Amino acid sequence: MHIEDPKLQTDLTALAVELRARASLAELTHLGIGGTTDLLRITKHESIPALIALLERHQIPYKFLGGGSNLLVGDGELPWVVLQLAKPDPEIVLEGKFARVDAAADLGRTVTFCAKHDMGGMEGLIGVPGTVGGALRMNAGAYGMQIGSYVREVKLYRAAERQIKILSGDQISFEYRHTSFAPDDMMLAVTLELPSKPYKEILQGIRICNEKRRSSQPLGQKSAGCIFKNPPGASAGRMIDELGLKGLSVGDARVSDRHANFFVNAGTASAKDMLSLIADVRGRVEKAFGVNLENEVVVWNA
Ligand code: EPU
Repeated sequence: MHIEDPKLQTDLTALAVELRARASLAELTHLGIGGTTDLLRITKHESIPALIALLERHQIPYKFLGGGSNLLVGDGELPWVVLQLAKPDPEIVLEGKFARVDAAADLGRTVTFCAKHDMGGMEGLIGVPGTVGGALRMNAGAYGMQIGSYVREVKLYRAAERQIKILSGDQISFEYRHTSFAPDDMMLAVTLELPSKPYKEILQGIRICNEKRRSSQPLGQKSAGCIFKNPPGASAGRMIDELGLKGLSVGDARVSDRHANFFVNAGTASAKDMLSLIADVRGRVEKAFGVNLENEVVVWNA
């Protein structure tokens, strides 16, 4: 979708929104898949209610992009524009045992920045790509921890109420790769309360998690991390592996040889290829194990 109306373009500029025409979602997502649309970069949280009202007045559908690390976007010209927060400076402000972090901040950089200030707890998230906002929405977790445990406050734009709100941690429920946020809530910032730990100790934890991840996941390749959630008490990766599906491909979409729940874009895979590989693997797992795997990857298919 392309915004051509010059008056609308001027109104966006007045709201401190930067318009990047015909952006490639393949370049904005870790899978390297996705068509084109206009990208609207938001430099002021406070302009969001007016921005949404403006888009709605012009009947322009929109989606909110985080770091693009857990996302599969459809091919071709996309029928909605994409909103994304620009990174503020600074992204993180420390106050005693609290870290106030902008949703646009890089998750890995946040973990290391806090570590350097003797604030631990998030070691497991070190290799997880994406923004803090995305991690928060999905309750990202690894190696026995999840970000939700440390959330004390969240600033968000609540579309249903058309306003920016602050929620306290106990107003939000965090479950395995799921939160009680509404689908159209936009994460803006979070306050984390992190346990105090010496940097050296945190660093040791970070090294261990990095090593485990390097040895079991295809880190250098284009992927969206795990494609399916683990069903209760089981591992999607192990089930797919047991069926001998590593290397199974549709076009350039391929089940990783290293970790069977990672599907990689080995070249120029399309969304159609990836969706068809996902459907094929889901069908085979259902047939063999009677388990219907649920997507972990978020799909924006027009
Ligand atoms: N396994 C296989 N073959 C494979 C992959 C895994 O046999 O191809 C076996 C492993 O040997 C292990 C078990 O399955 O015994 C579990 O594997 P792993 O430890 O790799 O963990 P996982 O359950 O597959 C989860 C998260 C990952 C997270 C790791 C580490 C989900 C869907 N996945 O993977 O998160 O990094 O634990 O904590 O919850 C993600 O969310 O995108 C993600 C990658």
